[in-house]
Amino acid sequence: MSSLAAIVLAAGQGTRMRSRIPKVLHPMAGRPMIGHVLDVLAAIDADPVVVVTGHGAEAVEAALGDTARSVRQEPQNGTADAVRVALAAVPDDSTRVLVTMGDVPLLPHALLAALVAEQEASGAAIVLLSAHLLDPTGYGRIVRGPDAGLQAIVEEVDADPATRALDEVNAGTYCFDGSWLRANLERVPRSPSGEYYLTDLVGLAVADGTAVRVIAASRPELAMGINDRVQLAVAERLLRTRIAEDHMRAGVTIVDPDSTFIDATVRIGQDARIEPWTVLTGDSVIGEEAVIGPGSRVHGSTIGNQARVWGSWVEDAEIGEGASVGPMAHLRPGSVVGPGSEIGNYAEIKKSRLGARVRQHHFSYLGDAKVGDDVNIGAGTVTANFDGTAKHETVIGDGAFIGVDTMLRAPVTIGPGAKTGAGSVVTRDVAAGKTVVGVPARPIELRRRRGGEPPDA
Ligand code: UD1
Ligand code: CA
Repeated sequence: MSSLAAIVLAAGQGTRMRSRIPKVLHPMAGRPMIGHVLDVLAAIDADPVVVVTGHGAEAVEAALGDTARSVRQEPQNGTADAVRVALAAVPDDSTRVLVTMGDVPLLPHALLAALVAEQEASGAAIVLLSAHLLDPTGYGRIVRGPDAGLQAIVEEVDADPATRALDEVNAGTYCFDGSWLRANLERVPRSPSGEYYLTDLVGLAVADGTAVRVIAASRPELAMGINDRVQLAVAERLLRTRIAEDHMRAGVTIVDPDSTFIDATVRIGQDARIEPWTVLTGDSVIGEEAVIGPGSRVHGSTIGNQARVWGSWVEDAEIGEGASVGPMAHLRPGSVVGPGSEIGNYAEIKKSRLGARVRQHHFSYLGDAKVGDDVNIGAGTVTANFDGTAKHETVIGDGAFIGVDTMLRAPVTIGPGAKTGAGSVVTRDVAAGKTVVGVPARPIELRRRRGGEPPDA
């Protein structure tokens, strides 16, 4: 049975990032760079996937979790040494071994598949990925013979001017014949710099008359590694374009992909419409036919089918089917807005559960509240949920009507169908169906008995 293993080189320092964070952990579209590499390796059914760690090993290994195996390379003696260390975790009977790097997050699945298929068809010891670059500075050059066949890879430091002028470079991704790799890796000589170059295997294979093949990437920008933050930004834009196109092909309307930022971790239902200046991040799930934006930010949230989030911020929250949020609403973590509810115009909700068809149309704050179905929250309503030391809960029953400018001093319960008058300050529980008014709020019939004008309920 044929089998494919993969090795991901990620022990290097990534000096040009000028960062305390290991290069492969820099986020791209909501995931660490190396996560995108592991995704494409999983998609091509590589098993096992072995990541070589070194610089920042603890952080990289923690980020990998159980998505890949890792081996440590100490000290980092070059790319051939890194593969040698990794092979200890690759089964002897792996027929093919893909080698790539943790900093090539855009590698297309089709390109990896082409490398593997070429190795399978030709039986070549090595099939390597090359790219033609306008500026090949810094890369190993592909040197071809008179018959255009591969002769060697020459690293820049070892290249003479004629070799440096070659524009075809080694991208650093290869598919090896497994047993040939095992048998020949130890033959790689130590370079003058003291490192062991994986690229020296090419010269060895050519000298032995063993077949080596090259596949040139048609889009070099997808095959080359990220070395600094300028390349990181360019790559992230390409990645986001790919993400947006995948969603559009799957039936999502994205009005203006250039002004829309969607993390790789977001799921979007069919016929949803994403309006401009919208940022969708974390593990957000957008329902079918939902409309998000213009100008919305949704993080880690679930938006129901046919819901609308218009010019608002929604963080770690849940919005029910057909609900409408915004403009200018802020749903903070732990907010749940029931189906058909309408929230907008400077409404803020935190860690509160609202039932179906709740209306909170104007500036107001609900924190640590449980709100039933069909409740009206009047303009200016505030849950005074914090007493200076602890947070307390407000409970509002089904069908309650909270008059404008009501202060609800938590802990407090408003019964189903109860009403509060405009400007009331509610400090005690209100029974079902009762109306309270005033400061502090009292049942309306008590106020009347004492005389004076009751405020409008
Ligand atoms: C390497 C190739 C070069 C190619 C280029 C593509 C070699 C000798 N040269 O050069 O032909 O054009 O990649 O980007 O392979 N790493 C380890 N352990 C080590 C050394 C490196 O894990 O001991 C990892 C690094 O983290 C990095 C990758 O291997 O992900 C490449 O190493 P790097 O030092 O950047 O090689 P280059 O000089 O760029
Ligand atoms: Ca490099």
